[in-house]
Amino acid sequence: MHPTVDALRARMDRPQRHRLLHGYPMAPLLRRAAHKGARRLADGALELGKDGAGAPEPAWITLDHTRPLLVGILPHAQCTPTVEGCGFCTFPHGGRYDQLLSRGQQMLARHDVEQLAQLPRRQVAAVYFGGGTANLVREEALRDLFDRLTRHHDVAHAEVTLEGVPALFLTTFSDRLGWLADLPAAHKRISMGIQTFAPDWLERMGRRAFGDAGTFARVVKRARRRGLTVSGDLLFDLPGQTLEDMREDVRRAVELGLDQVCVYHLVLYAGLGTPWSKDPALVAAMPDNEAACQHWLQLRDDLLAAGYVQTTLTNFERCEAHDGPRRFVYEEHSFTPERYDAVGCGLHGISTFLDVGGRRAVKLVRGAPQYLNRWALEPPWTEHDYVFLYDEEDTLLLHVTRSLARARLDLCVVRERFGLDAAERFAGELAACAEAGLVVLNDRELSLTPRGMFFADAVVGLLAAGRAAVVRQHAAGQHTLGLIERRAMYDGMG
Ligand SMILES: C[S@@+](CC[C@H](N)C(=O)[O-])C[C@H]1O[C@@H](n2cnc3c(N)ncnc32)[C@H](O)[C@@H]1O
Ligand code: SF4
Repeated sequence: MHPTVDALRARMDRPQRHRLLHGYPMAPLLRRAAHKGARRLADGALELGKDGAGAPEPAWITLDHTRPLLVGILPHAQCTPTVEGCGFCTFPHGGRYDQLLSRGQQMLARHDVEQLAQLPRRQVAAVYFGGGTANLVREEALRDLFDRLTRHHDVAHAEVTLEGVPALFLTTFSDRLGWLADLPAAHKRISMGIQTFAPDWLERMGRRAFGDAGTFARVVKRARRRGLTVSGDLLFDLPGQTLEDMREDVRRAVELGLDQVCVYHLVLYAGLGTPWSKDPALVAAMPDNEAACQHWLQLRDDLLAAGYVQTTLTNFERCEAHDGPRRFVYEEHSFTPERYDAVGCGLHGISTFLDVGGRRAVKLVRGAPQYLNRWALEPPWTEHDYVFLYDEEDTLLLHVTRSLARARLDLCVVRERFGLDAAERFAGELAACAEAGLVVLNDRELSLTPRGMFFADAVVGLLAAGRAAVVRQHAAGQHTLGLIERRAMYDGMG
């Protein structure tokens, strides 16, 4: 058999890890942003401190300040489930909730937002208060973060999202919904993790205090009253879960009238690192990839039949919301790197700046447990942070992988931006993917089939494999996201 076909088969047999949601390159390919005493800037330049040793490096890209910004604010990486990481979670949730740690991390987020003053004023297209559970942070702290941002950048036309666990949207001692509703921004929305409506699973996840079906309905109602739109996350392929149970969860999510439904197949395999991944019985009860793909196809059909539009690999939007000014833009924009720069403020924040004309880009990741221990508020991006400097080949892969997170790649845009034919450039890989029924190609567009959407991880892994092998030699070699904090981060999805 052709080696590319073999390589694709091997990738399709592995866990599909939602890698596309993060884009090329994966974390192990990043390297330290700077050595001790030096600092990396947004344009990729390396600046030496007063006593800094070594040589400075010139700017890698020319920043274009007319490009709008997407701003991710991660106030802290803390949650309060009674089971560590809700058992399954690959996000940086920081283990048991620790108020002191949360405060330290909030200081870092504030500090990073303040540092945005170093960029000339830009249009902000969307702001996302996310990370573990942003709605655990008090209203005053959220207000302070937003106010600092508005001092430096123009948010009047922005969409603003607050993410968190359902029950915390209803608390009265800190009215986060009220704060959000009153913001001087164009569209305000919340995003909550539902996961499932099944009480026994919610119990097992330690999420009883986060709410049940009644809570989810109250959140939707109250948010609507305040003029906010609402998104809910659903997990499917819970160990041993029947397709009927999965469909029931989708039905109930639709009944709630959510504006967006995000459906994620559970990423769970031995060695992932989450508590559930250490339980052989749970791992053994996971469906194989072919069965999981069938589940995905059915749930996708159900959502489309219920009047939802698929906007990204995992996101479905109610027609009425999708067709108007209240459609969700943060995720789609972040999958359009040719138009938007992104900055991440706070622990684990990811920033990406693109130089379209120069066909280069810079990615910077805020890292390091040192911040938590010393609360040392070093400016971004230093020896504790990570960088990736994209040359033309890498920028092409960034473009291709991010676009495929929207399930399609416009070949004309690639021709215009990179002066090449993507179908020719990836001919062998795409032939193997087409043969496996994962992609469809015409002269204008490469698109993932519904089956290809499930196996998207395998598709992009194959497209990027050659280049990743070269880049790996220069990388810090850290395990994905484990590079940022050893304990509670895994490479499944977070
Ligand atoms: C930051 S969390 C959501 C917000 C909030 N902390 C909550 O739990 O309600 C983002 C979402 O990622 C999804 N997720 C986390 N770990 C996952 C995994 N191992 N596989 C698939 N999806 C996962 C969950 O659906 C989760 O709601
Ligand atoms: S699912 Fe949400 S609450 Fe649970 S650990 Fe992950 S981020 Fe925290």
